Amino acid sequence: MADTKSTGQNSLSGRRTLAGRCIIVGISGGIAAYKTPVLVRRLREAGAEVQVVMTENAHQFVTATTLQAVSGRPVRDSLWDAAAEAAMGHIELARWADLIIIAPATADTLSRLAAGRADDLLCTLRLASRAPVMLAPAMNNVMWDHPATMRNLQRLTEDGCVVLGPDSGPQACGETGPGRMQEPEALFSAVSDYCLSFTDWNSLATPVRSGSRSGNLQGKRVLITAGPTREAIDPVRYISNESSGKQGYALATAALRVGAEVTLISGPVNLTPPEGVETIPVTNARQMQDEVQALLPEADLFIGVAAVADYRPEEAKDQKIKKLQGGKKGLNLNLVENPDIIAGVSSSKHRPFVVGFAAETQDALQNAREKRKRKGMDMIVVNDVANPEIGFNSEENAVTVIWDGGEENLPQSSKMRLAEAIMDRIVACFVDQLATANPESVAE
Ligand code: CTP
Repeated sequence: MADTKSTGQNSLSGRRTLAGRCIIVGISGGIAAYKTPVLVRRLREAGAEVQVVMTENAHQFVTATTLQAVSGRPVRDSLWDAAAEAAMGHIELARWADLIIIAPATADTLSRLAAGRADDLLCTLRLASRAPVMLAPAMNNVMWDHPATMRNLQRLTEDGCVVLGPDSGPQACGETGPGRMQEPEALFSAVSDYCLSFTDWNSLATPVRSGSRSGNLQGKRVLITAGPTREAIDPVRYISNESSGKQGYALATAALRVGAEVTLISGPVNLTPPEGVETIPVTNARQMQDEVQALLPEADLFIGVAAVADYRPEEAKDQKIKKLQGGKKGLNLNLVENPDIIAGVSSSKHRPFVVGFAAETQDALQNAREKRKRKGMDMIVVNDVANPEIGFNSEENAVTVIWDGGEENLPQSSKMRLAEAIMDRIVACFVDQLATANPESVAE
């Protein structure tokens, strides 16, 4: 049965909660299409970039002129529109999207999507995109209840689509029952909630089912560290940093998508581990080091995204440190150095391909180039955390990837999109290295 997501009506109105999000709004040919311009307007007000894509039949119910006016972009409706394709080809458009919502999704559209068809622009975009897909079905209640529709819905939810509604009530055909498209405000809230749930990495990725893995890292084991570490001062206090873990979790999802077996060793974060990733929670740097060392013999790639605390208090007190009495001022905390986890990996006997991350506030590139060599890494990914729009705790990032013989700037985008771009670069270098070391391993 359909998985209806709860929606907090109006909970986010008035805020630019979707700034920077790129959303495709697909419209298929049902009477509810007359309401979709309101959804488009709400998404735009919340800061999203919206590209409307109409099926041929949608034109019977709402005009492209209206949708162009509210979205601020010409509507796309054909695979064969040479001018539109020249401006942004459909594959490029599929990559551009952070999310696809189809509202209304008619019975016919659900059927074509369930079958995996690519016979019009909208269905093709859905197939060519890795973005999550939300569907707002709308149809006559008897059509909705038909086993064929239910079968299609079942398949689409299994494929990872989120189904919103439908509502029940009076229908345009004069009947009453389930099949009304959810109201635009409810759909808007569902999209906002979905995009804001960055703590749920599964929501940003089409789930990868075990047994269905494919990609360049198939059969390879990837070990990733993520998040901050916490170094105890006493039972209630610690030293830590601003790392949210988002970039590391996004990398884990990206590694899964290219077919790897992924283990994530994570410091304390407020994120749900990606489905299909083995996640080992740790608190401090020494625990992280122990887990990394234990798993190292199995790893083909190591990606150190964690913001490991360089120092820890020499002694973590058993009891809470009390405020000094009797006019004594100042308290000294003696710090000792933590192990450098990634340097240990680079110098280990069983050395995987090693990727490090560096967050720098000045001379970012120069520092990162030196750091890569100093720590013996194959690749380093550097971002400038002096810019408040990117880096620690923000939703977006922009980085430069540096490896032996090349550098590449990856411009500002969501941490998930960036993770995929970084993973592409990692895979390319890793495969190169494998080919150099053992030409027969990549002979096919
Ligand atoms: N790292 C690590 N163990 C540590 C410190 C850092 O594994 N004790 C890893 C991080 O996960 C990251 C890379 O090293 O991949 C670079 O981290 P960074 O904090 O920039 O390195 P530092 O050597 O601590 O450099 P800085 O003096 O700039 O803090």
